[in-house]
Amino acid sequence: MDLYEYQAKDLFAAHNVPVVPGKVCTTAEEARAAAAEIGGLVVVKAQVKVGGRGKAGGVKLAQTPDEAFEHATNILGLDIKGHTVRKILVAAAADIETEYYVSFLLDRTNRSFLAMASVEGGMEIEEVAATKPEALAKIRVDAIEGCTKEKATEIVEAANFPADVRDQIVDILQNLWNVLVKEDATLVEVNPLAKTPEGVVLALDGKVSLDDNASYRHEAHAALVDNSETDPIELRATELDLNYVKLDGEVGIIGNGAGLVMSTLDVVAYAGEEFGGVKPANFLDIGGGASAQVMANGLDIVLGDPDVKAVFVNVFGGITACDAVANGIVQAVAMLADRGEPVTKPIVCRIDGNNAAEGRRILDESGIALIERVETMDDAARRVAQLAAGK
Ligand SMILES: Nc1ncnc2c1ncn2[C@@H]1O[C@H](COP(=O)(O)OP(=O)(O)OP(=O)(O)O)[C@@H](O)[C@H]1O
Ligand SMILES: [Mg+2]
Repeated sequence: MDLYEYQAKDLFAAHNVPVVPGKVCTTAEEARAAAAEIGGLVVVKAQVKVGGRGKAGGVKLAQTPDEAFEHATNILGLDIKGHTVRKILVAAAADIETEYYVSFLLDRTNRSFLAMASVEGGMEIEEVAATKPEALAKIRVDAIEGCTKEKATEIVEAANFPADVRDQIVDILQNLWNVLVKEDATLVEVNPLAKTPEGVVLALDGKVSLDDNASYRHEAHAALVDNSETDPIELRATELDLNYVKLDGEVGIIGNGAGLVMSTLDVVAYAGEEFGGVKPANFLDIGGGASAQVMANGLDIVLGDPDVKAVFVNVFGGITACDAVANGIVQAVAMLADRGEPVTKPIVCRIDGNNAAEGRRILDESGIALIERVETMDDAARRVAQLAAGK
């Protein structure tokens, strides 16, 4: 889960990384009050989970509370790279002399953690990495040893931070490492890490990605979840405990086992080329040992997607016997009809494996006209692509 800047900075503060005081607001009135409370020069910042907010007009300085109100009015509702601004952060404006960059991230390729640091902060780090790679220090951090004082010193020296800020940055790096480890994050980034004319170093922006697999040991992280930007179908699927990912095609996909579902996406995309580029509308793995109810939930989710024109159920019965899957399909169709949402989209089924003959019999005798059974995966992919294309 990616955090908003204000949430990232709350975690920074909790681990003694210096930040400026700020308040998150959802209305321009609140922004005016926050600016008055903070006093002096403030900065009004769009809270969206995407970079380049400054360049998009989402970061503005305000001299007075009225000016903060005005900026907030303009920034709220702004679209930044497809993200609508619903929250803003009003923070004390720091006097900036220099902007630096520091981050820790999980480096999967090297099976390690990586620290990155640069005296060329402020701008996008990808640009620094591309145009001036020598200005971006990259230091491996051992997961067990962590960012000790010695390691932090090594990073600071490699990045060539000026002598007068080195001690502060050594402390900040160790505290940021604590954010990464203690909060179970996979990324902690500060850009800019600013130096004021008085020589004080502060985190003015923050980016944190938390590892969702570790959420069970962080009760407090539940409060950081914000679903306002999550796809509503994905949200419902999560509630139903389904492994669902929305894609942008027209063929609804249901399969058991991630590997089978991945290859189903491939064969459908391939078959779809013949029918004007029809593509999979989602990934949905109902898993091994899925019950009829799980299949019913899956069909409910996939059929509820207005982009879906036809559904492909591709099941290889292993732990899940095919008769259970077939019953699940039949029950789901009945359940939706009972609810007043009768199925109107064709469902192409390919079922094979454990108890396939019985499963096929159940489908064939169900009398549901919209269910079409196809023997092989390739033929089923071709047929569903054809149906989705309306041909
Ligand atoms: N509290 C602050 N006080 C003074 N200046 C600030 C403050 N916060 C941000 N800024 C200025 O605004 C710039 C952009 O802010 P920030 O880095 O938070 O947003 P961003 O989404 O990363 O923007 P961009 O990618 O356009 O740099 C900073 O580089 C800094 O110069
Ligand atoms: Mg930034």
